Amino acid sequence: MSDRSGERAVSDAWGKPRRFRICPSILSADFSRLGEEITRVTSAGADFIHVDVMDGRFVPSITFGPILVRAMRRLTSLPLDVHLMVVEPMRFLEDFAAAGADCLTVHVEAVEDPVDAVRRIRARGLRAGLTVKPSTSVGRLLPALPECDIALVMTVEPGAGGQRFLEGSAERIATLRSAIDSGGFDCLLSVDGGIGPETAPIAARAGADTFVAGHSVFRAPDPGEALAALRRSIEGA
Ligand code: DX5
Ligand code: ZN
Repeated sequence: MSDRSGERAVSDAWGKPRRFRICPSILSADFSRLGEEITRVTSAGADFIHVDVMDGRFVPSITFGPILVRAMRRLTSLPLDVHLMVVEPMRFLEDFAAAGADCLTVHVEAVEDPVDAVRRIRARGLRAGLTVKPSTSVGRLLPALPECDIALVMTVEPGAGGQRFLEGSAERIATLRSAIDSGGFDCLLSVDGGIGPETAPIAARAGADTFVAGHSVFRAPDPGEALAALRRSIEGA
């Protein structure tokens, strides 16, 4: 499925086959102008909008929840990729589904049974993602990979935007790339944290096909141009 030469197409039901996807994280957006920020990255070719939900327990910070997802649903037709950094994430499945989320990603550290969590998310008609903190073995994702829509490798400690991409992430990405390819799974391999034009190529060469980016897009003087620069860096990887 992967030939490492950049010709691999991600084929799934999320849209047209693409070599890679870029997902701006609204955590770093200007919330006083959220509509404009989303319009900007949508016209610049964003593939998904990444929504970081934090509860002050699984991670120290608190961000937002289904109410914001519901508002964003009216601002964009792009898939809303909701990353749940919360304890007991399955409690909120129905709320996020009703709010218009397209994909829910949960942490293996926060659920009792990752395979069951993924199945329940899919049974509700949503895409399912699974992720691990940098200190957790990516091996914890393997039993659920056949039923995952996204395997997400955290390339920073979850909890805040604007951190540095962690050394050692490439090996974790490559481990999952080879598991996805050898199993023939229709699963995106996403990276999240410290992704910009310098680090995205490292992740791309290791096998990532989906790139979440907060600061490097929304804190740039021109988010549209920043997104284009990120895309060029991945194409050139
Ligand atoms: C971190 C979040 C990320 C964050 C990435 O806990 O999961 O999605 O927004 O932000 P940057 O790209 O600034 O590292
Ligand atoms: Zn995230």
